[in-house]
Amino acid sequence: MVIKDLTVAEVDAFYNSFSLLMREGYGQFPHELREFFLTHDYLKDNFVNWLNRNIRKILISIEADGRVSGFLIGDHTYGGVAFISWIGVLPEFRNQGIASQLMKLYEIYVKSKQAHLIELFTYEAMKQFYEKRGFIEIGRRKQGFYGQLNLIMNKEIGDWNIDKLPR
Ligand SMILES: CC(C)(COP(=O)(O)OP(=O)(O)OC[C@H]1O[C@@H](n2cnc3c(N)ncnc32)[C@H](O)[C@@H]1OP(=O)(O)O)[C@@H](O)C(=O)NCCC(=O)NCCS
Repeated sequence: MVIKDLTVAEVDAFYNSFSLLMREGYGQFPHELREFFLTHDYLKDNFVNWLNRNIRKILISIEADGRVSGFLIGDHTYGGVAFISWIGVLPEFRNQGIASQLMKLYEIYVKSKQAHLIELFTYEAMKQFYEKRGFIEIGRRKQGFYGQLNLIMNKEIGDWNIDKLPR
């Protein structure tokens, strides 16, 4: 298994795993919302577009047979805050440390971009997973994006200072 940046050539393999996980893995979201994501916000073409324009940081774990076993979709940071939108690992590859490794590599990347915080939204069942990896709950919205609970967590990875302004 290798962890690397997603490229356009791997989008088909990535999207197979992404759509599988969207249907299997994010059970806290209603079925209709997950289908909406796949048919609107997260179309395969959107990923190609984001890659071509370097709009998101997408890490994948890829197996020797070409299967994408896991992914982390984040941004490139803004104002020193890095945001993780999605983390997923296919069921047969879980509990081998893949998600932890994806998060570690993302952290190294965003530190190189001078980030001082990593933020993500999650739900109750995942809270402990992120706490073990250095995140703390900073608040929650009962009805956030698409009316869903947003349990907002972040991890401090540095300090902001004015010298970090991009010049
Ligand atoms: C959560 C997920 C990304 C973990 O991937 P992974 O590669 O198995 O994670 P790691 O091997 O690095 O770590 C295993 C840890 O995850 C925990 N875990 C695995 N699945 C979990 C789940 N559905 N809910 C809560 N914790 C879970 C394990 O208990 C283990 O805990 P510990 O090491 O802190 O004791 C994976 O289970 C997944 O894709 N789940 C479905 C999608 C999802 O819920 N994503 C997170 C949305 S915020």
